[in-house]
Amino acid sequence: MLNVLVIGAGTMGSTHGDALSKMENVSLVGIVDKNLEKAKELGRKLGAEAFGTYEEAIESKPIDVVSICLPTPIHKPYVEKVADQGFHIICEKPLARNLKDAREMIDYCKAKKVKLFVGHVVRFFPEYVQAKEVIEQGSIGNVAVARTYRGGAFPYGSNDWYADYESSGGLVLDMIIHDFDFLRWCFGEVERVYAKSVEKGNERRIDYSLVTLRFKSGVIAHVEGSWAHQTFTTNFEFAGETGIVEHDSSKSVPVRFAGRNQSQSGGGVAVPESPLKKNPYYLELEHFLSCVESDREPIVTAEDAYKAMEIALAALQSIETKKEVELDAFARIGGVK
Ligand SMILES: NC(=O)c1ccc[n+]([C@@H]2O[C@H](COP(=O)([O-])OP(=O)(O)OC[C@H]3O[C@@H](n4cnc5c(N)ncnc54)[C@H](O)[C@@H]3O)[C@@H](O)[C@H]2O)c1
Repeated sequence: MLNVLVIGAGTMGSTHGDALSKMENVSLVGIVDKNLEKAKELGRKLGAEAFGTYEEAIESKPIDVVSICLPTPIHKPYVEKVADQGFHIICEKPLARNLKDAREMIDYCKAKKVKLFVGHVVRFFPEYVQAKEVIEQGSIGNVAVARTYRGGAFPYGSNDWYADYESSGGLVLDMIIHDFDFLRWCFGEVERVYAKSVEKGNERRIDYSLVTLRFKSGVIAHVEGSWAHQTFTTNFEFAGETGIVEHDSSKSVPVRFAGRNQSQSGGGVAVPESPLKKNPYYLELEHFLSCVESDREPIVTAEDAYKAMEIALAALQSIETKKEVELDAFARIGGVK
């Protein structure tokens, strides 16, 4: 039995808490949020105790693992605080807002001998996993071009932190980092990045980017992201010498509802739905916890999370400079942000 504490009672804290509360070998020992009312509300729903601070929670509960579901810029202080106690850590993606913080977090956890898992959940979506298997089996021959899309409404977080580009990194660092991680998992290291985006202007509450990746293997990927649509959807297409693999979530979700003006409703962040009993977030957390119990390497490591950040931050630099970015050179100087 593992005792797990969740910090953050927002969109992802609710998603993690819900999955953890359903696991047989897990005790969800508490929900922490600086907004105590929010923690209490989620705690009531999930049958877990609520705390206003992390310090109160650790004083009153035995803990093995802490899941950090906080706004990105405060992942680092919490990762370090939790590592100080020797608890293993699950941290939502992106690991940090900049590469310096991310590297320090990884090193800190290593020094404290605690495991650091990062929520790159796309590696647990069955359709993505299956596409990777089809590619690896050689069913479509060598892949030449990959195209991915991930988009929905502009997200709302606590204190509207997603709209603050310096905090969230916009949709490139916050959302299509999922596709960067998945594509790197499939095709290896990236050589060059070129990206375009709508002008930054979050007061309009839209964001749209197209990122072109050239992999060292020769594969070209077009990664499209949008915070300008009403409904959250994802799709991909991998074109190889002898075939194509494709998926479109808008055609595979069994029941779909799109209300009017969803983007104005203050309804948080779209989290992909799944008709499966164990949704991808459940599978991801179950996997991380089994790695704690059996002392195994996870399917996605903290170094993978760092590499995904490198690609995302290189894309942000390309958007800013309007020039392509060579990833090895970018990585050598540790990126800019
Ligand atoms: N894996 C995914 O699919 C996915 C989806 C959405 C968001 N995310 C990531 O998850 C993280 C959290 O995002 P979210 O949408 O849940 O944010 P959110 O704003 O909805 O929730 C964050 C919560 O943290 C609380 N909080 C803020 N500062 C705190 C502090 N110092 N101590 C305690 N509580 C504090 C806030 O009150 C809020 O309830 C982000 O890094 C985001 O990028 C991942």
